[in-house]
Amino acid sequence: MGALEGKVAVITGGSSGIGARTAELFVEAGARVAIAGRRRANGERLAKKLGDAAIFVQTDVSRESDVKAMIGQATARFGRLDCLVNNAGTGSRYDAIADLDLDRFDAAIGVHVRGVLAGMKYAVPIMAAQKSGSVINVASINGVHAGLGGVYYSVAKAATIHLTRCAAMELGEKGIRVNTLSPGPIATGIFGKGTGIDHDEADEHLEAAEAAISTILPQWQPLPYVGRAEDIAQAALFLASDASRLLTGHNLVVDGGMSAGWPAGATRDALACFRKAVQTSLSKQRT
Ligand SMILES: NC(=O)c1ccc[n+]([C@@H]2O[C@H](COP(=O)([O-])OP(=O)(O)OC[C@H]3O[C@@H](n4cnc5c(N)ncnc54)[C@H](OP(=O)(O)O)[C@@H]3O)[C@@H](O)[C@H]2O)c1
Repeated sequence: MGALEGKVAVITGGSSGIGARTAELFVEAGARVAIAGRRRANGERLAKKLGDAAIFVQTDVSRESDVKAMIGQATARFGRLDCLVNNAGTGSRYDAIADLDLDRFDAAIGVHVRGVLAGMKYAVPIMAAQKSGSVINVASINGVHAGLGGVYYSVAKAATIHLTRCAAMELGEKGIRVNTLSPGPIATGIFGKGTGIDHDEADEHLEAAEAAISTILPQWQPLPYVGRAEDIAQAALFLASDASRLLTGHNLVVDGGMSAGWPAGATRDALACFRKAVQTSLSKQRT
């Protein structure tokens, strides 16, 4: 029996990348899933591939009416709701504070925070009636570590992490768990999309993301391999399943160790310089 046998999940941003692989893995584990996203052709293609266990619901998570319809259609089709994966998101962008475009900021908050909040607003009454449920909000290591993700994205993801904690405090007594899943760099189309290329093209050429991440890996990440959508989908499977029944309000970071400290590759040369400077200074004092 699969870890999600009999469960029903809604996965936003399921038309590509982490969300698409999560939908596949959940179905392999016995779940039925509603895949949500804006690109109808991509979402319907994946739903068709997954057969009777999946539907696609065209959804823009920044529109409350879309989110309401998404939860409504999923429960109408499958009869219950055990898991909501708030995964829809867009990439980061770097603008200096003095050059910020506040409309871009509103758009980032609209998807990463308001969209997550709307999903919970409509999922929670159904989960509360069932006295169980797991909400997984996909944030980012940029929600905890400043400097890499740009202001719009980093602030929005930080808010997602705290929103998760707030919701977990309220909803625990209803049997609903709420956790954040924070990936490090993962080879998906999100980076290509950020450069302005066609979204489908970016999704098809993951080798571009792999190559780009590989270049910075030794400086940033202790584990010497590139994160894939599969790595995050496996963590989502754990959070969705009863194996994580005691976890709530948690931020599960899946980043190859990136946020734990400085990787050996980044510090080796610096430490050698540091030791040499100490020795040089001491030997000068002795003479
Ligand atoms: N890849 C990474 O390195 C990384 C690292 C940390 C966090 N994350 C987070 O992981 C999540 C998934 O990203 P990914 O890497 O899998 O990138 P991706 O392949 O570009 O997936 C993003 C998904 O979100 C959907 N989406 C975007 N805006 C939406 C909206 N307004 N309404 C509904 N759906 C929307 C997109 O589908 P449509 O275009 O069809 O709407 C797409 O399916 C995001 O929240 C991202 O911030 C990714």
